[in-house]
Amino acid sequence: MTLIQKGSGLGQWSAERKAEATGQKVATMRVWRGDATGGRFEEFQVPYEDGEVVLDILHRIQATQASDLAVRWNCKAGKCGSCSAEVNGKPRLTCMTRMSIFESGDPITVNPLRTFPVIKDLVTDVSFNYEVAAKIRPLKPVAPAGDDGHHRMFQEDVNRGQEFRKCIECFLCQNVCHVIRDHEENKQHFAGPRFFIRMAELDMHPLDTEPNRAERAQDDFGLGYCNITKCCTDVCPEHIHITDNGIIPMKERAMSAKYDPIPWIIRKIRRR
Ligand code: SF4
Ligand code: SF4
Ligand code: FES
Repeated sequence: MTLIQKGSGLGQWSAERKAEATGQKVATMRVWRGDATGGRFEEFQVPYEDGEVVLDILHRIQATQASDLAVRWNCKAGKCGSCSAEVNGKPRLTCMTRMSIFESGDPITVNPLRTFPVIKDLVTDVSFNYEVAAKIRPLKPVAPAGDDGHHRMFQEDVNRGQEFRKCIECFLCQNVCHVIRDHEENKQHFAGPRFFIRMAELDMHPLDTEPNRAERAQDDFGLGYCNITKCCTDVCPEHIHITDNGIIPMKERAMSAKYDPIPWIIRKIRRR
């Protein structure tokens, strides 16, 4: 790893002395800089205050030391999913990662999501995810039951799907999933955890009429590659039980549909 130390000029010296004089803390930030052709970590000394988050510090670097640092963000409230990066090696939302969780004085590394191609610095090209999303067939609802044109479903079914609809598409789960993190070639065959919960949500939707969603997840979207390590669940900022409530039940439904003799007989009879 090449490390370039920044912030050794007079302006930075003054900022550090001023921080010391006011009792302000100074963080050693190692931020990955580069593009698709390669890059390296650059080190910055950045004053910060208690209560600030990693995104604040990245913005301070932009404002005072590296105006060309590329950082993607939008809401700064943990709801848009834009500011995803790896902080000290762990996939995180930088706007929700408080500086206070790190040991004072220890360097903090920030690098882009590894599973997606780098565009510049901390910004990656996540279009793989939108391509997968476009392949999933949308909800195909039954005709409304009553004369008023409304669809009706039980509250417990609403609640069940609601967990998956909390997804903010930060793609931290996609980033950490070893099936595509270390194997670019698997992206052709594997949708990833974010999209398994989308498929699971549709598959368990009581008003959906699209057939064989679980089997299609298995056959067309690589559900079988998932070995339920739960790394995706561990990093989800919305605390969605991706594996326990989404992937595992959908694997079971796919297997039942394929190998349970009763549905198999029913399908055979229907085909006649
Ligand atoms: S549980 Fe499955 S989808 Fe989630 S990270 Fe592990 S292999 Fe990937
Ligand atoms: S499931 Fe969780 S980790 Fe994955 S994209 Fe949605 S919010 Fe992010
Ligand atoms: S900036 Fe929106 S989630 Fe971090």
